[in-house]
This record gives sequence, C-alpha cells and structure tokens, in this order.
Amino acid sequence: MSKFSLYIHIPFCEKKCYYCDFVSFPGKEQVSLYMDNIIKELALYKDRLSSYEIDTIFIGGGTPTSIEPEYIASIMDYIYQNYKTNHIQEITIEANPGTIDQMKAYIYKQIGINRISMGLQSLNNNLLKSIGRIHSSEEFISSYKLLRSTGFDNINIDLMLGLPCQTIDDLINSIDGVINLGANHISLYSLIIEDNTILNKWYKKGLLELPSEDMDREMYHKAVELLENKGYKQYEISNFAKPAYECKHNLIYWKVKPYLGLGLSSHSNLFNKRFWNTSNLKFYNDILAKGKSPIEGEEIIPKDVELVEYLILGLRLNDGIIKEEFKSRFNIELDNIYRKVIDKHVKGGLLYEDEKSIKLTKMGRDLSNMVELDFMP
Ligand SMILES: C[S@@+](CC[C@H](N)C(=O)[O-])C[C@H]1O[C@@H](n2cnc3c(N)ncnc32)[C@H](O)[C@@H]1O
Ligand code: SF4
Repeated sequence: MSKFSLYIHIPFCEKKCYYCDFVSFPGKEQVSLYMDNIIKELALYKDRLSSYEIDTIFIGGGTPTSIEPEYIASIMDYIYQNYKTNHIQEITIEANPGTIDQMKAYIYKQIGINRISMGLQSLNNNLLKSIGRIHSSEEFISSYKLLRSTGFDNINIDLMLGLPCQTIDDLINSIDGVINLGANHISLYSLIIEDNTILNKWYKKGLLELPSEDMDREMYHKAVELLENKGYKQYEISNFAKPAYECKHNLIYWKVKPYLGLGLSSHSNLFNKRFWNTSNLKFYNDILAKGKSPIEGEEIIPKDVELVEYLILGLRLNDGIIKEEFKSRFNIELDNIYRKVIDKHVKGGLLYEDEKSIKLTKMGRDLSNMVELDFMP
C-alpha cells in the first residue's frame, strides 16, 4: 500500500525570537479558527488518500506547544477516525521549553505523540536573552525532566552555533549539558541571518558581533567530534542521533519521498507533483471558510530535476547515495551519468566511494557546495 508523511504547521508562538524567519507570530486570537481549518484541509484530502497509509506525522511551527493541547488532540482524533493510521512509525511535536506543563505533556502522550523536538539553542542564559528566547536554561531542564517523567523516551533538542558573542566553550557546555540529560537526538544549526529578523536589522547597523566563518567551522568540528565521541551518530549535516533515534520524518524529506503539508505556507510532494499553501493567514482562513483549497501554486517536477534534488539532499546524509536505491528509483546506474564527477571529487578528497555508495568526506561536508554544483545539469 502507498504511504505518505504528514506535516501540520502551527504558526503561533509566545513571542518572535530575534533570529527567526519561520512563518510564525505571537497572538492567539486566530487559534480556534485556524485549527478548525486544519481539520477542513484534512477533510479535503480524505477521499484521495483513502488508499494511502500514514507513515510519520510532524506537528511543527511555530510552537505547537504554545496553544491549548485540546486543539492538537482534536486534529489527531480526526486523523485517527478518517485516515489509515495503523502503521504510523513516529509522531513528533515541536516544543518550546517555556510552553510545556504536566497537563499538556499528559495529553500529548495520550494522543499517541511519541517524539518531542524541543528548541533550546543554548544553555547560556545571557545568550538566550540576547536572541529573544522566552525561557531560561533552568526552565528548559525542568520541561525536559517533566517530559521524561511523563514517559517520552524520544526527545530531540535543537541547538545553535555561531550566535552573537557565543564562544566555543559556550557551545561545548551546551552540548555537554544536553548529552548529560540523555537527549536521544540533537540538531545543531549554524545561525543564518535571515532577512526579516531583528538580528538582521542589528547586523546591518553593525551592532552584531558574530563569530568569523573560520570560528563557525571550528565550532562545528569540535561539536561533531564531541557528539560522535559520546555515541551520537551524525546521520545528516546538522543532525546527530543515538542508534535507532534518527528522525524518520526528516528522512522522508531528505530521501524525496511523498509528504503532505497542511496549514500556512506548508509544502507537499504528493500525487507526482509539488504544491504549496498560501502564507497569508487571512487568505488561508477565508478560502477554507468557503470550503476551497488554500493551495497557492503547484509544479510538476521533471524526472531529471528530481534526480538532481535526490542527489543533493542524499549527499547531506552521512550514508550518502546508495547506488542500488538510486538505480531502482531512476532506472539508471549512477555511473552512467556521473562517473566523471565522482572520479574528480574522489581524487580531490571531497567524495568517498565504495561498491555500495558515494558519500561526502569530512572535507567534502565543509565544501559541499562545490560538489553539489558539479552534480547539477
Ligand atoms: C520551529 S523552530 C523549533 C521549535 C520552537 N518553535 C522553538 O523555537 O523552541 C525550529 C528550529 O529552527 C532553528 N532555527 C530557526 N531559525 C534559525 C536561523 N535563523 N538560523 C539557524 N537556525 C534556526 C532553531 O534551532 C529552532 O529551534
Ligand atoms: S524559533 Fe521557534 S519560538 Fe522562536 S519565533 Fe521561531 S518558531 Fe517561534
């Protein structure tokens, strides 16, 4: 039976962090209407997906834990009643430490959520304040312990590197702290100064002291070394997991498998095309009030474009591109198209090749852009 993964976007947060350009905003007036509309969207797809099984679900944002948990329960209830859910492998909810309490944790557990992905960024309280986070490191630790005591045994923590005034010691202390708490998975993102953010405003005014690019790389390498020494396998450029705790949902994106995105601005890869929803909240609510779809655009991806996308996303994975998987998906040997490119980068030390796969070397991960360019048409 065909499978697909489901992403549900909850765009509400307590407060906007200074670095964040995700489609998310403070304010709760629209929550009830928005969550009803997510259910209307689920209803729109129900018949077309009646022969599909849901593989994984990711409730992301924004901060899904910032709204009343009953809204999340209603959505999950609708899914269980109307979709094929017997073989769901993983249901993740994104959480912000300042927004968890015992009742929420209990309800999430009751409705089948089995993975928590919590944003922390740093354990240094001064850094947390300087990037506009709503919580302290102490509040993070108590949220984390509460989730553990409620029975969640699969928890990811997001950390950031390259933050203004962050030192290598800050970063290592944060990673160490999260490892000591026993996180099953750690995502480690290099700060990107996004256009529509407060950090970008400060940056343009010359008010930000950012680590140099060399320092950013040094932080990254030290972090990778520490995580690997402590038993976290790096399975993607920014993601580290204890054995068997890789995020199944994200692997769907990286392997370019089918997914449906619901809610504001979400993207889908389903029915042999890509399509995406509006990012305008008013339009989203108005169009669903009329019982129509909030899709803003769609495109059919030609096979050759999908092939390049598969290679570029696959190279971000530490297992790289598995030659047999490539062949069965695209009906052609990797060698037939890319022999010269592979030879060039194996010679240059950026790619490693064996009988089964090709993957980036350590140096290749730092210079992945160069390799990616050569795989493009
Ligand atoms: C949707 S948020 C996570 C959940 C929750 N909203 C929170 O922040 O606690 C996803 C993650 O993206 C990362 N992120 C957001 N903006 C970023 C940026 N500009 N540069 C690098 N990482 C970023 C952060 O690590 C954040 O935790
Ligand atoms: S990082 Fe998370 S909490 Fe902060 S604004 Fe973005 S989505 Fe909201």
